[in-house]
Amino acid sequence: MKVIINGKEFDIPKGVKFGELSHEIEKAGIEFGCTDGQCGVCVARIIKGMECLNEPSADEEDTLWRVGAVDEDQRLTCQLIIEKEDCDEIVIESE
Ligand code: FES
Repeated sequence: MKVIINGKEFDIPKGVKFGELSHEIEKAGIEFGCTDGQCGVCVARIIKGMECLNEPSADEEDTLWRVGAVDEDQRLTCQLIIEKEDCDEIVIESE
């Protein structure tokens, strides 16, 4: 599925955790640390396509809260998984 991260296009299949693709995705300017939802450096905003992504886990919500990312559209990039393919595209931007 088409995923646009900071303007760079990726083709990411359903079911793959974005943290597993961190070496690719960091080329679009997303910073990764732990890749398992603990450090919070990979926070980004989901501009489009949130309805096609997994819900945040309780652990992800704890980390988001800890780093002050309290807006509904903010997620940890490493924890994203595409669950539905009926969006045209997913658009993600870091700050
Ligand atoms: S890389 Fe650490 S929370 Fe995503």
